Amino acid sequence: MQPEALFTISNGLYVLSARDEKGRFVGSLIDAVSQVATDPDFLMISCMNGSYTKKVVEETGEFALSVLPQDINPLIVGIFGYQSSRNADKWAEAGGIEQKGAMYLSQALAKIRCLVTESLEYPSNTVFFAKIVDAFDSRVGEPLTYKMYRDGLKDKVMAAFEKYKKQTNVNQKGENTMENKKWTCIVCGYVYDGEVPFEDLPEDWVCPLCGVGKDQFELR
Ligand SMILES: Cc1cc2nc3c(=O)[nH]c(=O)nc-3n(C[C@H](O)[C@H](O)[C@H](O)COP(=O)(O)O)c2cc1C
Repeated sequence: MQPEALFTISNGLYVLSARDEKGRFVGSLIDAVSQVATDPDFLMISCMNGSYTKKVVEETGEFALSVLPQDINPLIVGIFGYQSSRNADKWAEAGGIEQKGAMYLSQALAKIRCLVTESLEYPSNTVFFAKIVDAFDSRVGEPLTYKMYRDGLKDKVMAAFEKYKKQTNVNQKGENTMENKKWTCIVCGYVYDGEVPFEDLPEDWVCPLCGVGKDQFELR
């Protein structure tokens, strides 16, 4: 099998949001969204099993999607995709608008609210099927695709997020202590402590706890 072949499947990019039982909004960047039925309208999303947002969707049975536009601020993509709600208050960092009890990005092209009806669990991901209970256009523009992210936006997102994190560390600690940091899985919090330097691990190396790839690790 050639894994690259799967990159030809067209996906958009979305911020998935959910509200935990304490009332805190959490969120995650996702691409795995597809409408699966009409009249009534249903869609499916696929969440990685280590994602905190997935846990909240499972517990509450509700979620909302912000459809990302092509002119999205790259930092927003990093805030939702490169760190976990376990350690970050993403909506406080990114800013959002609460509408009818759900949280959305102000830059969203469209806003969609859903109630989960069924789920299907795979070793890596859980798929949620959900009834669309609200959907509205927010602004004019073109939707961002996963291909656009891979082809050019990713570099901008990485640079913006790295700069932002450095700035946050400087503000919080008074100094940047990069040399004390360890490569940490942003999905499950696993801290890499192996003998082989993290940079030298093979590209197909995965987190031993939750199975995500090296691109889901950051220095913390
Ligand atoms: C381009 C891109 C696409 C992603 N697609 C998905 C996806 O479809 N489903 C998913 O669960 N995670 C996806 N992720 C990973 C999550 O956004 C990431 O693990 C996030 O840190 C989870 O945050 P949480 O723990 O707060 O839920 C994607 C990340 C990127 C950068």
